[in-house]
Amino acid sequence: MIIGIVAIAKNYAIGKGGKLPWRYPADLKFFRKTTDGNAVVMGANTWRSIGKPLPGRLNVILSRTNRIDAPAEVMRLACKEEVIELAKYLNRDVFIIGGAKTYEEFSDVIERWIVTEVPIDVEKADVFLPIDIFDGFKLVETRDLGDGLAVRMSSFAQGRKVRRSSLSKTTP
Ligand SMILES: NC(=O)c1ccc[n+]([C@@H]2O[C@H](COP(=O)([O-])OP(=O)(O)OC[C@H]3O[C@@H](n4cnc5c(N)ncnc54)[C@H](OP(=O)(O)O)[C@@H]3O)[C@@H](O)[C@H]2O)c1
Repeated sequence: MIIGIVAIAKNYAIGKGGKLPWRYPADLKFFRKTTDGNAVVMGANTWRSIGKPLPGRLNVILSRTNRIDAPAEVMRLACKEEVIELAKYLNRDVFIIGGAKTYEEFSDVIERWIVTEVPIDVEKADVFLPIDIFDGFKLVETRDLGDGLAVRMSSFAQGRKVRRSSLSKTTP
């Protein structure tokens, strides 16, 4: 399954000065646990902000220019179609982990959104998600992470399916 995972402020801010505009250990832990053992796909700017591969996951960096400095274990892909092709052959979920440009590019193939709602407005943020990005998705689960954070999981209402989920209980 192709899954978008994001933490978003009340004013739809997700980034400021090339970084996350907050630090919530509970959300970082939730992110690590949720994505563990799967693939994480990130845009070049998010790669620069993280600066090192996320352990225990297949790290994929998207870049058209390929002007990125990354160790050999990190996969570099040049377009969305290459990620979709990869997803078909992975027996794992593919998490789109940002940033805004990358979420927007994948918004028509994301089957599930996992959204941590950060209960603040971020002043002087410089990266936002479009307000209609979750349109067409239906809430399936809510989780409380503490620290005032709520996670909302939603699936595409029309049953968008790009590939079989590794979480699927059915046998092929
Ligand atoms: N709140 C959150 O959950 C969260 C999550 C992740 C990131 N962030 C924040 O978001 C900000 C970065 O976001 P951003 O929108 O500036 O950048 P981004 O999406 O991380 O990276 C954009 C770059 O990725 C490459 N790219 C994106 N889509 C592509 C595609 N379809 N094909 C090929 N390459 C593609 C391009 O690189 P080239 O120019 O090299 O071709 C593009 O310039 C940072 O502040 C970060 O901290 C927040």
